[in-house]
Amino acid sequence: MQDTTILDFEFEAHPNPVSDSDRAAVLANPGFGKVFTDHMAVIKYSADKGWHDAKILPRGPIQVDPATAVLHYAQEIFEGLKAYRLPDGGVSLFRADENARRFRESAERMAMAPLPDALFLNSIRELVRVDQKWIPEIEGGSLYLRPFMFASEVFLGVKPASEYLYMVIASPAGAYFKGGAPSVTLWVSEHYTRAAPGGTGAAKCGGNYAASLVAQKEAIDQGCDQVVFLDAVENRFVEELGGMNVMFVMDDGSIVTPPLGGTILPGITRDSLITLARSQGIEVREERYSTDQWKADAQSGKLREAFACGTAAVLTPIGKVRGRGYEFMIGNGGPGILTERLRGELGGIQRGTAPDPHGWVERLP
Ligand code: PLP
Ligand code: COI
Repeated sequence: MQDTTILDFEFEAHPNPVSDSDRAAVLANPGFGKVFTDHMAVIKYSADKGWHDAKILPRGPIQVDPATAVLHYAQEIFEGLKAYRLPDGGVSLFRADENARRFRESAERMAMAPLPDALFLNSIRELVRVDQKWIPEIEGGSLYLRPFMFASEVFLGVKPASEYLYMVIASPAGAYFKGGAPSVTLWVSEHYTRAAPGGTGAAKCGGNYAASLVAQKEAIDQGCDQVVFLDAVENRFVEELGGMNVMFVMDDGSIVTPPLGGTILPGITRDSLITLARSQGIEVREERYSTDQWKADAQSGKLREAFACGTAAVLTPIGKVRGRGYEFMIGNGGPGILTERLRGELGGIQRGTAPDPHGWVERLP
């Protein structure tokens, strides 16, 4: 049963917050993950005290002992979600309860103390409340929230830690890809895989990303924007990108996306788009899709569009795909019609300019 601890957050205001004019300059072009708000949320856990000391503090460095467990064995997980400015000046969160659940599931996979959903949600609400003036008002702008937790016990034995530090930082965000690229080029990694059956692919743990960096570097060296990983058993089926799920739009209007099965991250954007598409009568098949099929369908025209989807990337059209010894284009290489439509519809729900029939949006008081 889930722990139902509720804690009050103690608030310490930043003594020197960023000035209004400096903040306005940053918010005009925030990029992704480069600048941070004035505060952060912190909650501690220890096996003897449970969850305690919930605080909103001035954002700043933390001290860690060199023997802190996370620095050695990488017991760490994180989440990513966004707060949006509503047309009437209010603020919304999108499916934050799903991030809370995934965070708990990631913790369980990494043998960490699961944070109760109510604490996760309250930490987000409290931080967004104090730093909401950091939500950029530019087109496509949002406040990206990064909850994370790590083994803070000072101990070198290889075992689950008995102390954890949970934190949330916030970062104003524009487009994830440089220059808000109209479409991206993918590199198919044949040599490196991301996750094997029984591994940690479905958990949002830092280790997955550490292991992906060499493949992502290979993609950049090949002139591509993102790496696409194949399954670790047959090295044949598309799994997901370094930091996004992937969807394919066929010439009959249906959508194909790789199935969840423990090796890919169960994306909340992925799930939302499946629900949105199916509610409009669009057929969505969660089935395996091989690179051979991908090439053939792109060349025959059976594949009309493909896009990456995730919180940071939103929906990003895939224009070209490159692998060792081949390259192919999807559609005309630019954004596809259904991709653009779904992006608009999802954005409308998140930003409060369209109705929210699935009850996904929480309006912060
Ligand atoms: N896959 C990976 C590896 C990711 O890092 C992300 C981003 O969070 C996603 C998929 C998409 O997940 P979500 O839509 O929940 O952001
Ligand atoms: C997110 O979309 O929230 C992620 O964590 C992906 C990462 C590439 C920034």
